[in-house]
Amino acid sequence: MPVTQTIKISASETYSVLIGRDILKDAGRLTSEVISPRSAVLVSDDTVFYIYGEAVKKSFSGCGFDIFTFIFPHGEGSKDISMLSRLLEFCAESKLTRSDFIIALGGGVTGDLAGFAASVYQRGIKYIQIPTTFLAAIDSSVGGKTAVNLKSGKNLAGAFKQPSLVICDCGAFDTLPPEVFADGSAEAIKYGVLADAGLFSTFSRGSIQPAALPGIVAKCVSIKGSIVTNDEYDTGNRQLLNLGHTIGHAVEKCSGYSVPHGHAVAI
Ligand code: NAD
Ligand code: GLY
Repeated sequence: MPVTQTIKISASETYSVLIGRDILKDAGRLTSEVISPRSAVLVSDDTVFYIYGEAVKKSFSGCGFDIFTFIFPHGEGSKDISMLSRLLEFCAESKLTRSDFIIALGGGVTGDLAGFAASVYQRGIKYIQIPTTFLAAIDSSVGGKTAVNLKSGKNLAGAFKQPSLVICDCGAFDTLPPEVFADGSAEAIKYGVLADAGLFSTFSRGSIQPAALPGIVAKCVSIKGSIVTNDEYDTGNRQLLNLGHTIGHAVEKCSGYSVPHGHAVAI
């Protein structure tokens, strides 16, 4: 199945969010339309890489990209300074230059970590997002917020760094554990509360059919895109997107990050 929806985000960088099903295998070709073949570090956690990593790698290699792979243990605990430092060293050991780029394949933890690395490696290189969780598809892969957690709290070190492309394959949600899918539903309901009563009622009617997901992702990304376009650096209206997050971040921190982000926002 091809890309069924394309949403343009216009911020300090203008880029496309490509949404569809079964498009992971086309990731290399879709990327080559915006970044010509060169070297890239593919960043993924051990769970996601095990399921999708080789297929995605093959897709890029088949289009002439030279791929180096950085795999880290899944979970919020990896979103810290020591993992960031390991990733930056890996980029250097892989001889990534300023014209090369980083690929984030996974959920919000992968996207935030890989995006932050891209913002500081050699003073900033390109990166693309390939979200594999519902939450990452509708929120963290779009808008350019990247970060790691400090001991003092959540997302306390980071940068605004827009990706060059987002490729969202809703087929990847088929392998999500139900509680991880629910994390994304919490953020989707947030968009419904903020901006779209129809979207809110979709969730209050009960379970979501897989065929409806590309449309729901497109709706959420459009809402986020229009907010980010007007307030990229979060000094005004973008703060609406933090609905539930002040208490949510406290719940995450006080639980030692055992309560996942989406659940904490829902609380
Ligand atoms: P995550 O990246 O930890 O993924 C959740 C779990 O799902 C992980 O164990 C992962 O291995 C697994 N997984 C991912 N994709 C899978 C798939 N397709 N099939 C099976 N398992 C899969 O967490 P998340 O909920 O995606 O993201 C939460 C993070 O995102 C938090 O750190 C939060 O702060 C951040 N976030 C950032 C922004 C932003 O704007 N940058 C916005 C919202 C959330
Ligand atoms: N997730 C909140 C934001 O991107 O602003």
